[in-house]
Amino acid sequence: MKPKLLITRKLPEEIIDKAEKNFEVIIWDNELTPIPDEVLSEKIEQVDGLLCLLTDNINKEVLNRAKNLKVIANLAVGFDNIDVNSAKRKGIIVTNTPGVLTDTTADLTFGLMLATARRMVEANNFIKKGEWGSWSPFQLTGNDVHNAKLGVIGMGRIAQAFIKRAKGFDMDICYFNRSRKIRLEEKFGIYFKPLEDLLITSDFICLFIPYTKDSHHMISMAELQKMKKNAILINTARGGLVDEKALYKALIDKVISGAGLDVFENEPINSDNSLLNLSNVVSLPHIGSASEKTRLKMAHISVDNIYSVLYEKKPVNEV
Ligand code: DGY
Repeated sequence: MKPKLLITRKLPEEIIDKAEKNFEVIIWDNELTPIPDEVLSEKIEQVDGLLCLLTDNINKEVLNRAKNLKVIANLAVGFDNIDVNSAKRKGIIVTNTPGVLTDTTADLTFGLMLATARRMVEANNFIKKGEWGSWSPFQLTGNDVHNAKLGVIGMGRIAQAFIKRAKGFDMDICYFNRSRKIRLEEKFGIYFKPLEDLLITSDFICLFIPYTKDSHHMISMAELQKMKKNAILINTARGGLVDEKALYKALIDKVISGAGLDVFENEPINSDNSLLNLSNVVSLPHIGSASEKTRLKMAHISVDNIYSVLYEKKPVNEV
């Protein structure tokens, strides 16, 4: 008998076909709506493997319903939607999809930084609304990215790929991380700064750290007030890193100059979220890794991760 696998969202046919070769697949076959909590709790009782998304809250209560579950493969590199400690206590292996989304996410982050700095979305709306009366010297002027001071928070794979891109723009790059990375400092010609110094001196501050209890609201009003008036905050990591109410106030009061946000504290955000009304905010619906190729690779890796635990008893990409 094949092991049972629950997949919590509609995925491309090639992924389902691949999964069905080795598993009896149960799927929440909906592309846009997450599996309801009660369906997840009911289905999880029967399965050996779970392929889930960052929109699924795999908490202790859900895990307590599982009787045979041995592996949870999160289709993401982040895994703050899963209570990993509770899973480990139950002997359930949790895996993620590192590596394959690094460059795609770094590309998006760089694009978001450029778009925010050069007010591209605002300019696009301006022209579409027919407001472009005449070329004018200081119309829609923004901030330069080239030669600017960049502060990178976190030094994982995506941060490093982002730094490579920033080097091409001759940015002056410092970073803050729990531990210093001397080899990377030499490789990229970057330097370490304590967080406070980074916040005080950077023109662009980009977040690349995982979301945990400790990093919750690591950017709050106190941190925003340390930033330069022309500073732009870019977040493609997790929304909970930033206190959104404080950010809104800082943007309204011109404490900082702008923000580029691909992630939010509570996703999906409503269209009446006050941040969306600000012209100095560029907002995206959590699409950092959303290229066709990369999302497909992530889905393949997730199925492979489940296979390696259930068939080969050799977990890969265990978190
Ligand atoms: C992740 O992988 O954690 C991203 O947020 C989605 O790709």
